[in-house]
Amino acid sequence: MVSSIKDAEFEPAVTWDYVDKIRASTKMKLLIKGLETAEDAQRCLDHQIDGIIVSNHGGRASETGRGTLECLPEIVNVIKGRIPVLIDGGFRRGTDIFKALALGADAICIGRPYIWGLASFGQEGVEAVLKMLTAEFSMTMRQAGTASLKEINGNYLA
Ligand SMILES: Cc1cc2nc3c(=O)[nH]c(=O)nc-3n(C[C@H](O)[C@H](O)[C@H](O)COP(=O)(O)O)c2cc1C
Repeated sequence: MVSSIKDAEFEPAVTWDYVDKIRASTKMKLLIKGLETAEDAQRCLDHQIDGIIVSNHGGRASETGRGTLECLPEIVNVIKGRIPVLIDGGFRRGTDIFKALALGADAICIGRPYIWGLASFGQEGVEAVLKMLTAEFSMTMRQAGTASLKEINGNYLA
């Protein structure tokens, strides 16, 4: 039986009833991470979740499955802008960020890159990673001719 959030962390029996329990327990924004399908995205809407993070946990839990960018379009198609859709998994370059935004993500997250920066050079390393990604993304936007984030859309991937 799942009796606490800590117990639930690696509990395969966690159900949407349990999600409802967490939802009812707080007014804080509640995001669910680890979604890869349209069906689960719809469930998030049905269960009043505030946002989702499309993620395969860096490929560690489901490494032979689809990449998260492949999963993104069907999820965006269900969500239709009603709640924020974030994504992570393998974002290493500005072009990766551009592609995710063009496919409809509201934001991207990074995991290992900042940890590598932290392990190598501490705070400066983390800042360097963020600067590199921002500079590359900015360069990609310039090359595509998109002056604002709002202008980035699927037409740029054709
Ligand atoms: C060492 C390590 C431990 C992780 N542990 C968890 C975890 O306990 N729960 C979780 O949802 N994701 C976990 N993740 C996945 C990250 O939260 C994140 O989804 C992933 O690292 C993003 O991909 P990226 O590292 O390619 O940017 C872990 C990732 C790493 C590298």
